[in-house]
Amino acid sequence: MITYLVTGCAGFIGTTFVHYMLAKYTDIRIINLDALTYAGNLENLKDIESDERHVFVHGNICDKELTASLIAKYDPDFIINFAAESHVDRSIAGPEIFVTTNVLGTVNLLQRAKDAWYDAGQKTWKKGKKFIQVSTDEVYGALGATGYFTETTPLDPHSPYSSSKASADLFVKAFHDTYKMPVNITRCSNNYGMWQFPEKLIPLMINNARNHKKLPVYGDGMQIRDWLYVEDHCKAIDMVAQGGIDGEVYNIGGHNERPNIFIVKTIIAQLAERLKDPQINESLIEHVEDRLGHDRRYGIDPAKIKSDLGWYPETTFETGIVKTIDWYLANQEWMDRVTSGEYQKYYETMYADRERLGDK
Ligand code: NAD
Ligand code: TYD
Repeated sequence: MITYLVTGCAGFIGTTFVHYMLAKYTDIRIINLDALTYAGNLENLKDIESDERHVFVHGNICDKELTASLIAKYDPDFIINFAAESHVDRSIAGPEIFVTTNVLGTVNLLQRAKDAWYDAGQKTWKKGKKFIQVSTDEVYGALGATGYFTETTPLDPHSPYSSSKASADLFVKAFHDTYKMPVNITRCSNNYGMWQFPEKLIPLMINNARNHKKLPVYGDGMQIRDWLYVEDHCKAIDMVAQGGIDGEVYNIGGHNERPNIFIVKTIIAQLAERLKDPQINESLIEHVEDRLGHDRRYGIDPAKIKSDLGWYPETTFETGIVKTIDWYLANQEWMDRVTSGEYQKYYETMYADRERLGDK
């Protein structure tokens, strides 16, 4: 049996990863460590509550004693670190927690894994162990109109979020370079799919449009993101765990670059058609003040993971976006619960003061 200590699995991608892995393998055990921040939602895991292969632990990746005791108790073969503060706008509003969770939390996990897996006298590592850091293409900064991020593109993060992820990546690299720790780093492009917290572009726009609320497009809306269906990201992480070469970085993306305004218009068209609601139309679009330091374009070159590990994306954007919209429509209660309370307050502070570009 293979044991995974996976962090952050009450969040968007981690939730999908747990479901993906439990559906694919029988003989595994997943220890899921999650602090249940605003972005963590145990409801996402309700259907696997009684599955003995999944053990949920409520706790923080920065907690030395807890993480050491989990590694001692369960002796994981893999530690996969999804846990993070993940929203760029929140990082601009308050960077400190991004340093605490994304940098210090990652360093704590690395150090606890090293304590358990490394024989300092022999300078050897226990066989079959690996640490996987789930990172992002945002560590590479922004592209111009042409070119792609490869694994050798220099790190050039701009936002506090991407800077904290780049810092964490460098510590993972340092543990590999200094102690020869078995590691991989994955850097994926923007994910979309079910269970994504509605502070991110796609679920936010779906929820607002459905409720006839304005659709806040930052600046001219011509910023480009490279969208990947979340299950394809999870498939890639599984392949990196199984076959990734020690110390290597793998970029993950499906060559699906779209300007934000295209995404918003696609959501409007799909929702209007599905709900037969003429009030859902492009007059809901409101161009608002741009994000500070907004990266103009991301685009991943996935040649390495394709050629070395045989990964390819299975879901096209056209299929994935329809599946995603249908899921949010069918799960309105989920949306209502996560958009109440704290999130609602956050929404008001984030958008109330944002100047409407049309008012200038
Ligand atoms: P998310 O914000 O939806 O979920 C993060 C999860 O981590 C939540 O369940 C939260 O409770 C948990 N968490 C936060 N701080 C914690 C702490 N200190 N200890 C334990 N748990 C904690 O994020 P996501 O979109 O699922 O992203 C997961 C990972 O993938 C992140 O590392 C992110 O940087 C990376 N990533 C995300 C995307 C994307 O498009 N969403 C793309 C590439 C990489
Ligand atoms: P987001 O989903 O926050 O992901 P990231 O910033 O990590 O790429 O944003 C995706 C793009 O959508 C980004 O260019 C910012 C833009 N955006 C808007 O235009 N309006 C919004 O309300 C949000 C949340 C994002």
